[in-house]
Amino acid sequence: STPILTDRFGRTVDYVRLSVTDRCDLRCSYCMPKGFQGFEEPEHWLTFAEIERLIGAFARVGVGRVRLTGGEPLLRRNLPDLAARLKALPGLFDLSLSTNATQLARHAKALRAAGVDRLNISLDTLDGACNAHITGRDTFDAVMQGIAAAQAEGFAPIKLNMVAMKGVNDHEIERMAEYAMAQGFILRLIETMPMGQTGRNAQYLDLGPVRERLAARFGLVPEARELGGGPARYWATPDGAGRIGFITPISQHFCATCNRVRLAVDGTLYMCLGQEERFEFRPLLRDGASDAELEAAIRTAIELKPERHEFREQPGKIVRFMSQTGG
Ligand code: GTP
Ligand code: 5AD
Ligand code: SF4
Repeated sequence: STPILTDRFGRTVDYVRLSVTDRCDLRCSYCMPKGFQGFEEPEHWLTFAEIERLIGAFARVGVGRVRLTGGEPLLRRNLPDLAARLKALPGLFDLSLSTNATQLARHAKALRAAGVDRLNISLDTLDGACNAHITGRDTFDAVMQGIAAAQAEGFAPIKLNMVAMKGVNDHEIERMAEYAMAQGFILRLIETMPMGQTGRNAQYLDLGPVRERLAARFGLVPEARELGGGPARYWATPDGAGRIGFITPISQHFCATCNRVRLAVDGTLYMCLGQEERFEFRPLLRDGASDAELEAAIRTAIELKPERHEFREQPGKIVRFMSQTGG
């Protein structure tokens, strides 16, 4: 029988978000500050062998889904090799990647060959100047080439992650929806979370009214099909072909059904995006823990998972940036 990992609140934890680097080639305004220096030392990065061993232990206790994140995961050298090693682990059935796509054109083929099942791509705007303004770099053409390469390799459906910001890119939401529908992508609108000063300063937009606006414009109905393992709530056009997801951690949070934990590049397991509870796996991995000890440690760690975030009640609580845990 399949093992099941559950927390104190009866939630099943079957999804690990694995941050393979805290570095990024962009500086999105809501994520990492310009001039940021506090990166992890390379000697603290879990090696591929350590990651494979630890994720193997997660898979044995019931985690079937792994998402590769960053920073920007494609900055980690030989990422497709890691992807292939993870995909080969017994019990792991869903391997996905969240990327900013600046380097995706070069890696799409190898990622597909490695067995990456699903791709989520950050794209906040279709305007090159607006993109440069948000990300701090002029990489719009490279991103578009990355998206085209992913499509050519057969990744489908690709999800586009658009962090919606009042007065920055909210005027582009309809255009993004039309673009995504025309290309067969699933657009996902995301509310900014107050992670670090950058997240707190972001121009928060309540997506409730946006959803009503889009529902009226495109005749959206709730989507019954399961579209990944995440917190997005999906709506679809009447023919089912156009789909839009809403990720609303602030206006309508989804903590009651949270199924995930986050492993940072230094081996810290974060139990919640909006809380401090954590468990350090690097010492265990480097001090010769057995497989049974790793599995027991995972169960102990999951006991620490808090009920929910408190982004509204305590918006200043989390000082780490999103780039440290990969969203
Ligand atoms: P799917 O498996 O395709 O559903 O992916 P996902 O939506 O879980 O992952 P992705 O990396 O694309 O994340 C999209 C947005 O959702 C990011 O802004 C994440 O920070 C946010 N997100 C993902 N999981 C959680 C979560 O557990 N809590 C909160 N508050 N936000 C999350
Ligand atoms: N709030 C919400 N989403 C964020 N992301 C990065 N920082 C934030 C934030 N402060 C998103 C990225 C990416 C995803 C993995 O996380 O845009 O699409
Ligand atoms: Fe980099 Fe993603 Fe953070 Fe942007 S949101 S700075 S692309 S890690």
